[in-house]
Amino acid sequence: MTTSVNELIVAQPSQSCDVELAKGPWEFDAVPGYGPGASELDVIPEPVTRPGQLPAAYQRMADDELHARIRAAKEALGDRLVILGHFYQRDEVVQYADFVGDSFQLANAALTKPDADTIVFCGVHFMAETADILARPEQHVILPNLAAGCSMADMADEDSVEDCWEQLMELYGETAADGRASVIPVTYMNSSAALKAFCGRHGGIVCTSSNAATVLEWAFERGQRVLFFPDQHLGRNTAKAMGVSVDDMPMWNPRKPLGGNTEADLDKAQVILWHGFCSVHKRFTVAQIEKARAEHPGVKVIVHPESPMPVVDAADASGSTDAIRKFVIASQPGDTIAIGTEINMVNRLAAEFPDRTIFCLDPVVCPCSTMYRIHPGYLAWTLDQLVEGEVVNEIVVADDVARDAKVALERMLAALPK
Ligand code: 13P
Ligand code: SF4
Repeated sequence: MTTSVNELIVAQPSQSCDVELAKGPWEFDAVPGYGPGASELDVIPEPVTRPGQLPAAYQRMADDELHARIRAAKEALGDRLVILGHFYQRDEVVQYADFVGDSFQLANAALTKPDADTIVFCGVHFMAETADILARPEQHVILPNLAAGCSMADMADEDSVEDCWEQLMELYGETAADGRASVIPVTYMNSSAALKAFCGRHGGIVCTSSNAATVLEWAFERGQRVLFFPDQHLGRNTAKAMGVSVDDMPMWNPRKPLGGNTEADLDKAQVILWHGFCSVHKRFTVAQIEKARAEHPGVKVIVHPESPMPVVDAADASGSTDAIRKFVIASQPGDTIAIGTEINMVNRLAAEFPDRTIFCLDPVVCPCSTMYRIHPGYLAWTLDQLVEGEVVNEIVVADDVARDAKVALERMLAALPK
């Protein structure tokens, strides 16, 4: 049996990156609603049911009863329900998912059960928004805890991106001399629906970490340069691997005029990188890789491309959560693999492949604190409510936003990972 991250945190709160994580999520989700996390700054659409915190009865419920309720509700709802789970979810939750995958796979999975009435997304807010945009209008999408956002997604809000775009259009004009667009906006999947809609309206596209290279090629066929948000690291790592010089990738700080750049910097820019980052992946360092190599001769190191560029350069490979999983599957019994990504996923791989030594590069237990908010209590409560005919914690993207965002998402789905 795998030791869950929850148990690790409870046993050793001083060794986790955030002692708050040892508490029940309802203790720090004091304000009902979206966030902190993706779309904290978005307006909550009117039809969304906004319940309070998790009902007290579910907070106090014994684990056995929570799990019995989840199983019974799944049984009762049958094919009317599909549960999607991201690789970073805790084991206690991921065991109930009908599909487990990376963001690209889960966006596709949302389309695979058109007959289900309800998609319960055990992931974070931007993933559930994407499912709502892609699902049939009659389907409901539920995020068991509305406070499960993504802090990186919050680093680019719609107003700041609009303001950046205005400045860039003033500087470059809409069309380059060769007839291509002067700038193509590319948003990482980890962004609000409003920003996906912005890309749809401006000839842009969404990418995930698995298809970012295909998406950048798509963008350069249509535009002279790319505005990439919110994750600077994925943008930089992907463009660098395609041969773009880091000198031609200025960073955009929305609090400064021209993002803190000179006109000359922007004139030669190939990729303009928003200053966002993931707090889990920015913890990985080259020193950790050197230590792993010193202590485990022959170790293979793979990291997620949200990690800083020197870390990706020092690793043997980088890739999306699914690519990391495939890297482990392709390894041999006896191999040692150090992984730079979220701890729930690393622990699960280690448990699944006991004949290999698999460990996280970061010695401190650091789960994605927003994914972690999907506690089994929330899953049990939302499913019990569904059995009663009540849809709670529904994610509803406003129609006009969904229409434009879908344009950018469909371009993304057509840009297959390499
Ligand atoms: P993947 O697309 O690789 O699943 O990554 C999602 C994510 O949020 C990583 O931090
Ligand atoms: Fe967001 Fe980072 Fe969590 Fe991924 S791991 S969902 S980027 S905070």
